[in-house]
Amino acid sequence: MHKKVYLKVFGCQMNAYDSEIVEAMLGKAGYMPAGTPDEADIILFNTCSVRAHAEERAFGNVMALRPLKEKHPEKIIGIIGCMAQNYGEALLEKAPFVDLICGPDRMWDIPAFVEEIRGGRGPVIACELDGRAGKSVTGQKKRLKAYVAIMRGCDNFCTYCVVPYVRGRERSREVTDIVNEVAQLLDNGVKEITLLGQNVNSYGKNLADGITIARLLERLDSLPYKKRIRFLTSHPKDISPDLISAMRDLESVCEHLHLPIQSGSDRILETMGRGYAVGHFLDIARSFKENIPAGSLTTDVIVGFPGESEEDFQATVNVMKKIQFDDSFIFKYSPREKTKAAALTDDVPKKVKEERNQILLSLQKEITAANNQCLIGTTLEVLVETPAKKSRGEVMGRSRAHKKVVFAANGNCIGEYIPVEITGQGDFTLTGRAHRAF
Ligand code: 5AD
Ligand code: SF4
Repeated sequence: MHKKVYLKVFGCQMNAYDSEIVEAMLGKAGYMPAGTPDEADIILFNTCSVRAHAEERAFGNVMALRPLKEKHPEKIIGIIGCMAQNYGEALLEKAPFVDLICGPDRMWDIPAFVEEIRGGRGPVIACELDGRAGKSVTGQKKRLKAYVAIMRGCDNFCTYCVVPYVRGRERSREVTDIVNEVAQLLDNGVKEITLLGQNVNSYGKNLADGITIARLLERLDSLPYKKRIRFLTSHPKDISPDLISAMRDLESVCEHLHLPIQSGSDRILETMGRGYAVGHFLDIARSFKENIPAGSLTTDVIVGFPGESEEDFQATVNVMKKIQFDDSFIFKYSPREKTKAAALTDDVPKKVKEERNQILLSLQKEITAANNQCLIGTTLEVLVETPAKKSRGEVMGRSRAHKKVVFAANGNCIGEYIPVEITGQGDFTLTGRAHRAF
Protein backbone atom coordinates (compact mmCIF):
# COMPACT_ATOMS: atom_id res chain seq x y z
CA MET A 1 0.00 0.00 0.00
CA HIS A 2 1.16 3.54 -0.79
CA LYS A 3 2.31 5.83 1.96
CA LYS A 4 0.45 9.11 2.16
CA VAL A 5 1.07 12.79 2.87
CA TYR A 6 -1.43 15.36 4.11
CA LEU A 7 -0.37 18.94 3.45
CA LYS A 8 -2.36 21.96 4.64
CA VAL A 9 -1.49 25.40 3.31
CA PHE A 10 -1.87 28.77 5.01
CA GLY A 11 -1.08 32.19 3.59
CA CYS A 12 -0.10 33.47 0.19
CA GLN A 13 0.22 32.08 -3.33
CA MET A 14 3.94 31.48 -2.80
CA ASN A 15 3.04 29.05 -0.02
CA ALA A 16 0.56 27.32 -2.32
CA TYR A 17 3.28 26.97 -4.96
CA ASP A 18 5.86 25.76 -2.44
CA SER A 19 3.39 23.19 -1.19
CA GLU A 20 3.00 21.84 -4.73
CA ILE A 21 6.77 21.45 -4.90
CA VAL A 22 6.85 19.60 -1.57
CA GLU A 23 3.97 17.37 -2.66
CA ALA A 24 5.69 16.63 -5.96
CA MET A 25 8.99 15.77 -4.24
CA LEU A 26 7.25 13.49 -1.77
CA GLY A 27 5.28 12.05 -4.70
CA LYS A 28 8.57 11.03 -6.29
CA ALA A 29 9.52 9.44 -2.95
CA GLY A 30 6.33 7.33 -3.10
CA TYR A 31 3.87 9.39 -1.06
CA MET A 32 0.36 9.89 -2.42
CA PRO A 33 -1.80 12.82 -1.28
CA ALA A 34 -4.09 12.07 1.70
CA GLY A 35 -7.50 13.70 2.24
CA THR A 36 -7.23 13.85 6.05
CA PRO A 37 -4.49 13.68 8.72
CA ASP A 38 -5.97 10.37 9.94
CA GLU A 39 -5.10 8.53 6.77
CA ALA A 40 -1.66 10.17 6.35
CA ASP A 41 1.84 8.96 7.27
CA ILE A 42 3.24 12.47 7.02
CA ILE A 43 1.28 15.56 8.07
CA LEU A 44 2.69 18.94 7.06
CA PHE A 45 1.50 22.49 7.70
CA ASN A 46 2.91 25.12 5.37
CA THR A 47 2.53 28.18 7.54
CA CYS A 48 2.31 31.97 7.23
CA SER A 49 3.64 34.64 9.62
CA VAL A 50 2.35 37.79 7.97
CA ARG A 51 -0.28 38.46 10.66
CA ALA A 52 -0.81 37.03 14.16
CA HIS A 53 -4.17 35.63 13.10
CA ALA A 54 -2.59 33.46 10.38
CA GLU A 55 -0.10 32.09 12.90
CA GLU A 56 -2.78 31.36 15.47
CA ARG A 57 -4.84 29.44 12.93
CA ALA A 58 -1.92 27.33 11.78
CA PHE A 59 -0.75 26.64 15.30
CA GLY A 60 -4.28 25.69 16.37
CA ASN A 61 -4.29 23.11 13.57
CA VAL A 62 -0.97 21.70 14.73
CA MET A 63 -2.04 21.47 18.38
CA ALA A 64 -5.24 19.67 17.41
CA LEU A 65 -3.06 16.77 16.23
CA ARG A 66 -1.62 15.96 19.63
CA PRO A 67 -4.13 13.14 20.37
CA LEU A 68 -3.54 11.62 16.91
CA LYS A 69 0.22 11.65 17.42
CA GLU A 70 -0.17 10.07 20.87
CA LYS A 71 -2.16 7.26 19.33
CA HIS A 72 0.11 6.92 16.27
CA PRO A 73 3.64 8.00 17.23
CA GLU A 74 4.91 6.72 13.86
CA LYS A 75 3.14 9.52 12.00
CA ILE A 76 5.51 12.36 11.08
CA ILE A 77 4.24 15.86 11.85
CA GLY A 78 5.97 18.91 10.41
CA ILE A 79 5.66 22.68 10.58
CA ILE A 80 7.17 24.15 7.43
CA GLY A 81 7.31 27.61 5.83
CA CYS A 82 7.36 31.05 7.40
CA MET A 83 6.41 30.20 11.00
CA ALA A 84 9.08 27.51 11.08
CA GLN A 85 11.58 30.14 9.95
CA ASN A 86 10.25 32.74 12.36
CA TYR A 87 10.33 30.66 15.56
CA GLY A 88 12.53 27.65 14.78
CA GLU A 89 13.22 25.36 17.71
CA ALA A 90 11.01 27.45 20.04
CA LEU A 91 8.00 25.80 18.38
CA LEU A 92 9.06 22.52 19.98
CA GLU A 93 8.56 23.98 23.45
CA LYS A 94 4.88 24.51 22.69
CA ALA A 95 4.44 21.46 20.48
CA PRO A 96 7.01 18.85 21.56
CA PHE A 97 5.31 16.16 19.51
CA VAL A 98 6.34 17.81 16.22
CA ASP A 99 9.04 15.96 14.24
CA LEU A 100 10.07 18.53 11.64
CA ILE A 101 10.54 22.29 11.62
CA CYS A 102 11.63 23.41 8.18
CA GLY A 103 11.98 26.97 6.84
CA PRO A 104 11.18 27.96 3.23
CA ASP A 105 14.77 27.73 1.96
CA ARG A 106 15.24 24.18 3.21
CA MET A 107 12.04 22.65 1.86
CA TRP A 108 13.89 20.94 -1.01
CA ASP A 109 15.47 18.67 1.61
CA ILE A 110 12.15 17.51 3.09
CA PRO A 111 12.27 13.98 1.55
CA ALA A 112 15.74 13.51 3.12
CA PHE A 113 14.52 14.86 6.47
CA VAL A 114 11.63 12.40 6.39
CA GLU A 115 14.12 9.57 5.97
CA GLU A 116 16.18 10.86 8.91
CA ILE A 117 13.11 11.02 11.12
CA ARG A 118 12.06 7.53 10.02
CA GLY A 119 15.55 6.38 11.01
CA GLY A 120 14.93 7.68 14.54
CA ARG A 121 17.12 10.77 14.09
CA GLY A 122 14.39 13.33 14.79
CA PRO A 123 13.26 15.91 15.48
CA VAL A 124 14.81 17.78 12.57
CA ILE A 125 15.12 21.54 12.70
CA ALA A 126 16.24 23.18 9.45
CA CYS A 127 15.90 26.93 9.31
CA GLU A 128 18.90 28.31 7.44
CA LEU A 129 18.18 30.99 4.88
CA ASP A 130 20.63 30.02 2.17
CA GLY A 131 19.74 32.61 -0.46
CA ARG A 132 19.15 30.08 -3.23
CA ALA A 133 16.64 31.13 -5.85
CA GLY A 134 15.03 27.70 -5.57
CA LYS A 135 14.20 25.13 -8.19
CA SER A 136 10.87 23.80 -9.24
CA VAL A 137 9.73 20.21 -9.07
CA THR A 138 6.63 19.39 -11.02
CA GLY A 139 4.23 16.62 -10.15
CA GLN A 140 1.69 14.71 -12.14
CA LYS A 141 -1.32 16.78 -11.20
CA LYS A 142 -3.45 17.81 -14.20
CA ARG A 143 -4.48 21.43 -13.96
CA LEU A 144 -5.55 24.50 -15.79
CA LYS A 145 -3.72 27.16 -13.83
CA ALA A 146 -0.26 27.07 -12.29
CA TYR A 147 2.03 29.29 -10.27
CA VAL A 148 5.69 29.78 -11.09
CA ALA A 149 8.06 31.58 -8.69
CA ILE A 150 10.36 33.95 -10.55
CA MET A 151 12.03 35.41 -7.49
CA ARG A 152 12.03 34.92 -3.77
CA GLY A 153 12.56 37.13 -0.75
CA CYS A 154 12.26 40.85 -0.27
CA ASP A 155 14.74 43.66 0.39
CA ASN A 156 12.24 46.41 1.07
CA PHE A 157 11.84 46.04 4.81
CA CYS A 158 8.53 47.88 5.00
CA THR A 159 8.39 48.57 8.72
CA TYR A 160 5.34 46.37 9.44
CA CYS A 161 6.37 43.35 7.40
CA VAL A 162 7.98 40.12 8.58
CA VAL A 163 8.55 38.77 5.06
CA PRO A 164 12.19 39.90 4.66
CA TYR A 165 13.00 38.12 7.94
CA VAL A 166 11.30 34.85 7.13
CA ARG A 167 11.93 34.69 3.39
CA GLY A 168 15.32 36.36 3.26
CA ARG A 169 16.93 38.59 0.67
CA GLU A 170 15.73 39.04 -2.89
CA ARG A 171 17.06 36.64 -5.49
CA SER A 172 15.78 35.93 -8.98
CA ARG A 173 15.67 32.66 -10.85
CA GLU A 174 17.51 32.38 -14.14
CA VAL A 175 15.40 33.23 -17.19
CA THR A 176 16.05 29.88 -18.85
CA ASP A 177 14.85 27.99 -15.75
CA ILE A 178 11.63 29.95 -15.74
CA VAL A 179 11.07 29.67 -19.49
CA ASN A 180 11.65 25.90 -19.33
CA GLU A 181 9.26 25.48 -16.43
CA VAL A 182 6.55 27.55 -18.11
CA ALA A 183 7.03 25.71 -21.43
CA GLN A 184 6.68 22.37 -19.67
CA LEU A 185 3.50 23.46 -17.91
CA LEU A 186 1.99 24.74 -21.17
CA ASP A 187 2.95 21.52 -22.85
CA ASN A 188 1.06 19.65 -20.13
CA GLY A 189 -2.09 21.60 -20.88
CA VAL A 190 -1.84 24.48 -18.38
CA LYS A 191 -3.62 27.55 -19.78
CA GLU A 192 -2.82 30.21 -17.22
CA ILE A 193 0.48 30.91 -15.47
CA THR A 194 0.83 33.30 -12.55
CA LEU A 195 4.40 34.44 -11.97
CA LEU A 196 5.12 34.90 -8.31
CA GLY A 197 7.47 36.99 -6.26
CA GLN A 198 7.23 39.12 -3.13
CA ASN A 199 8.22 42.04 -5.33
CA VAL A 200 8.22 41.03 -9.00
CA ASN A 201 9.36 44.48 -10.12
CA SER A 202 12.77 43.69 -8.66
CA TYR A 203 13.04 40.66 -10.92
CA GLY A 204 16.49 40.38 -12.49
CA LYS A 205 18.35 42.75 -10.18
CA ASN A 206 20.85 40.04 -9.20
CA LEU A 207 21.11 38.56 -12.70
CA ALA A 208 23.42 39.50 -15.56
CA ASP A 209 22.16 40.91 -18.91
CA GLY A 210 19.92 43.67 -17.53
CA ILE A 211 16.94 41.31 -17.55
CA THR A 212 13.72 42.79 -16.14
CA ILE A 213 10.20 41.53 -15.58
CA ALA A 214 9.15 43.23 -18.83
CA ARG A 215 11.84 41.33 -20.80
CA LEU A 216 10.88 38.09 -19.07
CA LEU A 217 7.24 38.61 -20.05
CA GLU A 218 8.33 39.10 -23.68
CA ARG A 219 10.22 35.81 -23.59
CA LEU A 220 7.23 33.97 -22.13
CA ASP A 221 4.78 35.65 -24.50
CA SER A 222 6.76 34.32 -27.46
CA LEU A 223 6.23 30.68 -26.41
CA PRO A 224 3.97 29.21 -29.10
CA TYR A 225 0.86 28.37 -27.08
CA LYS A 226 -2.45 30.13 -26.51
CA LYS A 227 -2.10 31.12 -22.87
CA ARG A 228 -2.57 33.71 -20.18
CA ILE A 229 0.21 35.15 -18.06
CA ARG A 230 -0.31 37.04 -14.81
CA PHE A 231 2.12 38.22 -12.16
CA LEU A 232 2.00 39.06 -8.45
CA THR A 233 2.92 41.23 -6.47
CA SER A 234 4.11 44.61 -7.70
CA HIS A 235 5.56 47.43 -5.61
CA PRO A 236 4.56 51.03 -6.49
CA LYS A 237 8.06 52.24 -5.69
CA ASP A 238 9.72 50.47 -8.59
CA ILE A 239 7.08 49.63 -11.16
CA SER A 240 8.40 50.63 -14.59
CA PRO A 241 6.70 52.18 -17.62
CA ASP A 242 8.12 49.17 -19.49
CA LEU A 243 5.97 46.82 -17.45
CA ILE A 244 2.82 48.78 -18.22
CA SER A 245 3.74 48.74 -21.93
CA ALA A 246 4.29 44.97 -21.71
CA MET A 247 0.81 44.55 -20.26
CA ARG A 248 -0.62 46.70 -23.03
CA ASP A 249 1.27 45.12 -25.92
CA LEU A 250 1.85 41.44 -25.16
CA GLU A 251 -1.08 39.30 -26.15
CA SER A 252 -0.79 36.70 -23.40
CA VAL A 253 -0.11 39.12 -20.54
CA CYS A 254 -3.40 39.81 -18.79
CA GLU A 255 -4.61 43.30 -17.99
CA HIS A 256 -4.66 43.05 -14.23
CA LEU A 257 -2.29 44.84 -11.89
CA HIS A 258 -2.23 44.08 -8.18
CA LEU A 259 -0.54 47.09 -6.63
CA PRO A 260 -0.67 47.39 -2.84
CA ILE A 261 -1.14 51.00 -1.73
CA GLN A 262 -1.25 50.15 2.04
CA SER A 263 -2.39 53.67 3.04
CA GLY A 264 -3.65 56.89 1.49
CA SER A 265 -1.78 59.07 3.97
CA ASP A 266 1.72 60.28 3.09
CA ARG A 267 2.56 60.49 6.79
CA ILE A 268 1.68 56.83 7.34
CA LEU A 269 3.36 55.70 4.12
CA GLU A 270 6.49 57.40 5.40
CA THR A 271 6.41 55.52 8.74
CA MET A 272 5.64 52.34 6.86
CA GLY A 273 8.86 52.90 4.89
CA ARG A 274 7.08 52.33 1.60
CA GLY A 275 9.32 54.66 -0.42
CA TYR A 276 6.57 56.53 -2.32
CA ALA A 277 3.96 59.19 -1.70
CA VAL A 278 0.28 59.02 -2.65
CA GLY A 279 0.93 61.34 -5.62
CA HIS A 280 3.27 58.76 -7.17
CA PHE A 281 0.71 56.02 -6.75
CA LEU A 282 -1.92 58.20 -8.43
CA ASP A 283 0.46 58.78 -11.36
CA ILE A 284 0.89 55.02 -11.84
CA ALA A 285 -2.85 54.41 -11.57
CA ARG A 286 -3.47 57.10 -14.19
CA SER A 287 -0.82 55.73 -16.54
CA PHE A 288 -2.25 52.21 -16.14
CA LYS A 289 -5.78 53.37 -16.99
CA GLU A 290 -4.60 55.48 -19.94
CA ASN A 291 -2.58 52.64 -21.44
CA ILE A 292 -4.95 49.83 -20.56
CA PRO A 293 -8.50 51.17 -20.32
CA ALA A 294 -9.97 47.67 -19.89
CA GLY A 295 -7.45 46.76 -17.20
CA SER A 296 -8.28 46.15 -13.59
CA LEU A 297 -6.36 47.49 -10.65
CA THR A 298 -6.49 45.83 -7.22
CA THR A 299 -4.73 46.64 -3.99
CA ASP A 300 -3.90 45.83 -0.35
CA VAL A 301 -4.61 48.25 2.49
CA ILE A 302 -3.59 48.08 6.15
CA VAL A 303 -5.86 49.86 8.63
CA GLY A 304 -4.83 50.79 12.16
CA PHE A 305 -1.10 51.14 11.58
CA PRO A 306 0.51 52.82 14.65
CA GLY A 307 -0.35 56.52 14.73
CA GLU A 308 -3.12 56.26 12.08
CA SER A 309 -5.40 59.18 12.99
CA GLU A 310 -8.95 59.72 11.80
CA GLU A 311 -7.51 62.16 9.29
CA ASP A 312 -5.01 59.59 7.96
CA PHE A 313 -7.79 57.06 7.62
CA GLN A 314 -9.98 59.60 5.76
CA ALA A 315 -7.08 60.13 3.37
CA THR A 316 -7.19 56.38 2.61
CA VAL A 317 -10.96 56.54 2.07
CA ASN A 318 -10.49 59.48 -0.30
CA VAL A 319 -7.78 57.76 -2.33
CA MET A 320 -9.91 54.65 -2.65
CA LYS A 321 -12.81 56.75 -3.92
CA LYS A 322 -10.50 58.49 -6.36
CA ILE A 323 -8.78 55.43 -7.79
CA GLN A 324 -11.84 53.15 -7.79
CA PHE A 325 -9.92 49.89 -7.39
CA ASP A 326 -11.64 46.85 -8.85
CA ASP A 327 -10.98 44.97 -5.63
CA SER A 328 -8.97 45.37 -2.48
CA PHE A 329 -7.76 43.26 0.41
CA ILE A 330 -8.11 45.09 3.69
CA PHE A 331 -5.98 44.02 6.65
CA LYS A 332 -5.99 45.11 10.28
CA TYR A 333 -2.48 45.98 11.40
CA SER A 334 -0.85 43.19 13.36
CA PRO A 335 2.47 43.92 15.12
CA ARG A 336 5.18 41.48 14.11
CA GLU A 337 8.23 40.73 16.24
CA LYS A 338 11.57 41.70 14.66
CA THR A 339 10.03 44.42 12.48
CA LYS A 340 10.74 48.13 12.97
CA ALA A 341 7.09 48.97 13.55
CA ALA A 342 6.98 46.55 16.48
CA ALA A 343 8.82 49.24 18.44
CA LEU A 344 5.93 51.68 17.85
CA THR A 345 2.93 51.60 20.16
CA ASP A 346 0.07 49.67 18.58
CA ASP A 347 -2.17 52.57 19.55
CA VAL A 348 -5.24 52.22 17.33
CA PRO A 349 -7.79 50.37 19.49
CA LYS A 350 -9.00 47.01 18.24
CA LYS A 351 -12.53 48.35 17.91
CA VAL A 352 -11.38 51.26 15.73
CA LYS A 353 -9.36 48.90 13.52
CA GLU A 354 -12.48 46.78 13.14
CA GLU A 355 -14.62 49.83 12.27
CA ARG A 356 -12.12 51.08 9.70
CA ASN A 357 -11.90 47.61 8.24
CA GLN A 358 -15.70 47.48 7.85
CA ILE A 359 -15.85 50.97 6.33
CA LEU A 360 -13.31 50.07 3.65
CA LEU A 361 -14.92 46.70 2.97
CA SER A 362 -18.29 48.26 2.29
CA LEU A 363 -16.77 51.12 0.28
CA GLN A 364 -14.95 48.56 -1.88
CA LYS A 365 -18.14 46.60 -2.35
CA GLU A 366 -19.86 49.71 -3.74
CA ILE A 367 -16.94 50.57 -6.00
CA THR A 368 -16.62 47.01 -7.33
CA ALA A 369 -20.34 46.97 -8.07
CA ALA A 370 -20.13 50.33 -9.89
CA ASN A 371 -17.12 49.18 -11.94
CA ASN A 372 -18.79 45.89 -12.77
CA GLN A 373 -22.02 47.63 -13.74
CA CYS A 374 -20.08 49.41 -16.50
CA LEU A 375 -19.18 46.02 -17.99
CA ILE A 376 -22.79 45.06 -18.64
CA GLY A 377 -23.37 44.79 -22.39
CA THR A 378 -19.69 44.20 -23.17
CA THR A 379 -18.25 40.87 -24.26
CA LEU A 380 -15.32 39.42 -22.31
CA GLU A 381 -13.09 36.47 -23.08
CA VAL A 382 -13.57 34.00 -20.23
CA LEU A 383 -11.23 31.12 -19.46
CA VAL A 384 -13.60 28.57 -17.94
CA GLU A 385 -12.26 27.04 -14.71
CA THR A 386 -14.91 25.00 -12.88
CA PRO A 387 -18.60 24.21 -12.64
CA ALA A 388 -20.23 27.11 -10.72
CA LYS A 389 -20.49 26.49 -6.98
CA LYS A 390 -24.06 27.47 -6.41
CA SER A 391 -26.08 26.46 -9.39
CA ARG A 392 -26.14 23.47 -11.67
CA GLY A 393 -25.80 23.97 -15.41
CA GLU A 394 -23.47 26.94 -14.94
CA VAL A 395 -19.72 27.33 -15.10
CA MET A 396 -17.28 29.82 -13.57
CA GLY A 397 -14.28 31.41 -15.21
CA ARG A 398 -12.21 34.57 -15.20
CA SER A 399 -11.89 37.41 -17.66
CA ARG A 400 -8.44 38.64 -18.65
CA ALA A 401 -8.86 41.40 -16.05
CA HIS A 402 -9.40 38.64 -13.44
CA LYS A 403 -13.12 39.25 -12.97
CA LYS A 404 -15.12 36.23 -11.95
CA VAL A 405 -17.78 35.39 -14.56
CA VAL A 406 -20.60 32.84 -14.22
CA PHE A 407 -22.68 31.72 -17.20
CA ALA A 408 -24.86 28.83 -18.37
CA ALA A 409 -22.92 26.02 -20.02
CA ASN A 410 -22.10 22.41 -19.38
CA GLY A 411 -18.79 21.27 -17.94
CA ASN A 412 -17.41 20.30 -21.36
CA CYS A 413 -16.12 23.82 -21.91
CA ILE A 414 -13.78 23.80 -18.90
CA GLY A 415 -10.36 24.97 -20.07
CA GLU A 416 -11.77 26.82 -23.09
CA TYR A 417 -11.63 30.53 -23.85
CA ILE A 418 -15.20 31.63 -24.46
CA PRO A 419 -16.59 35.05 -25.41
CA VAL A 420 -19.29 35.87 -22.89
CA GLU A 421 -21.69 38.79 -23.07
CA ILE A 422 -22.06 40.30 -19.60
CA THR A 423 -25.68 40.67 -18.57
CA GLY A 424 -25.56 41.28 -14.82
CA GLN A 425 -23.42 41.62 -11.72
CA GLY A 426 -23.55 41.25 -7.96
CA ASP A 427 -21.42 40.11 -5.05
CA PHE A 428 -18.09 40.55 -6.84
CA THR A 429 -19.26 38.29 -9.68
CA LEU A 430 -20.36 39.00 -13.25
CA THR A 431 -23.04 36.96 -14.93
CA GLY A 432 -23.43 36.55 -18.64
CA ARG A 433 -24.32 34.41 -21.63
CA ALA A 434 -22.07 32.63 -24.06
CA HIS A 435 -22.33 33.56 -27.72
CA ARG A 436 -22.85 29.94 -28.65
CA ALA A 437 -24.51 27.08 -26.79
CA PHE A 438 -22.53 24.47 -24.80
N1 5AD B 1 -0.26 43.57 9.58
C1 5AD B 1 -1.30 43.63 8.73
N2 5AD B 1 -1.19 43.43 7.41
C2 5AD B 1 0.04 43.14 6.93
N3 5AD B 1 0.47 42.90 5.68
C3 5AD B 1 1.79 42.65 5.72
N4 5AD B 1 2.24 42.75 6.98
C4 5AD B 1 1.17 43.06 7.76
C5 5AD B 1 0.99 43.29 9.14
N5 5AD B 1 2.01 43.26 10.00
C6 5AD B 1 -0.40 42.94 4.51
C7 5AD B 1 0.06 43.98 3.48
C8 5AD B 1 0.60 43.12 2.38
C9 5AD B 1 -0.27 41.89 2.49
C10 5AD B 1 0.27 40.68 1.82
O1 5AD B 1 -0.38 41.69 3.87
O2 5AD B 1 -1.08 44.69 3.04
O3 5AD B 1 0.49 43.73 1.10
FE1 SF4 C 1 6.61 42.97 2.96
FE2 SF4 C 1 7.03 45.36 1.88
FE3 SF4 C 1 8.41 43.21 1.00
FE4 SF4 C 1 5.78 43.40 0.49
S1 SF4 C 1 7.37 44.78 -0.26
S2 SF4 C 1 6.88 41.58 1.22
S3 SF4 C 1 5.00 44.43 2.29
S4 SF4 C 1 8.55 44.15 3.03
